Amino acid sequence: MILAIESSCDDSSIAIIDTKDLKEVFYEKISQNEHSAFGGVVPELASRLHTIALPNILKKTKQYFPNLKAIAVTNEPGLSVSLQSGVAMAKALALSLKLPLITVNHLVGHICSLFLNEDIQNNFLCLLVSGGHTQILKINKNYEIQILAKTNDDSFGESFDKVAKMLDLSYPGGPIVEELAKKGKNICNFTTPLKDKTRLEYSFSGLKNQVRLALNDFSKNDICASFQATAINHICDKLELFMKDSECKMLGIVGGASANLALRKEIELLCNKYNFSLKLAPLKYCSDNALMIARAAVLKYKRAEFANLNTELISPVSTDFRRI
Ligand code: KG4
Ligand code: ZN
Repeated sequence: MILAIESSCDDSSIAIIDTKDLKEVFYEKISQNEHSAFGGVVPELASRLHTIALPNILKKTKQYFPNLKAIAVTNEPGLSVSLQSGVAMAKALALSLKLPLITVNHLVGHICSLFLNEDIQNNFLCLLVSGGHTQILKINKNYEIQILAKTNDDSFGESFDKVAKMLDLSYPGGPIVEELAKKGKNICNFTTPLKDKTRLEYSFSGLKNQVRLALNDFSKNDICASFQATAINHICDKLELFMKDSECKMLGIVGGASANLALRKEIELLCNKYNFSLKLAPLKYCSDNALMIARAAVLKYKRAEFANLNTELISPVSTDFRRI
């Protein structure tokens, strides 16, 4: 078994996976609702809450310690002070239990959320939509990750959070905006960003400004409906440019914002149009969680890719995002 820890942002989570049959042996996550008052994650507060939550979860895993073969932890990318909490705990466990330590890139973890209980596939496109990232990726036949497009400014999930903040709603904004959008109409006439078809990139900051200018003229529900429809339109516009020319025939969607059902529906239509199969993570494991980190760690364990405990392991940006 491998015990994995995830603490890159505002979720404290620990999972244990069986390396042989990939069964989930243990899973728990504590989300930090304390940030909702601030409209975004406050790093120092996140770090303090991790140092309370992680030991509380870890206590429940002691019975499995004799079965552990390795400790895994998210070491990048993320908030440094948040990553630090998980990495400190992982190092302490590895040292005291005399086990190897496996570091996992958080984005690789999100990709692995598509294959929690099965073999990892290759040769597919993957849309990563989270609070920190918006990218179209290609996973090549040899499992290498190629970044085909990314956002120039805000991420898809972050733009939901910022719109929620402008509308005096809580944090995280994604699920709340999606709920209000169901009761509203797409009548604000927002223009889809980068509508000229040639630019293979995303941008959400202009849309955020369109929302700001509409605040006094429309209801919250209509703003949410219009914003969400336009943001999804933007995602699909660019995705289509890659799908229509791709020899891949599978598309995965991962990251916290991949739980958005309106986004899933529009992408499903695109997949039908271009004859792609659509691969989704279970809703419970779209947002940050330690099970996806454990799944990614199984791969590294089999390749004997272990970390050196004496080196600096944390990076706020991705340094190891070349292959699954
Ligand atoms: O993957 P994740 O848990 O954390 C990062 O790695 O960033 O993603 C969190 C992001 C937040 O910005 C949140 O508002 C967004 O995902 N999100 C959603 C939905 N659920 C979560 N965005 C749109 N619609 C949703 N239903
Ligand atoms: Zn994430």
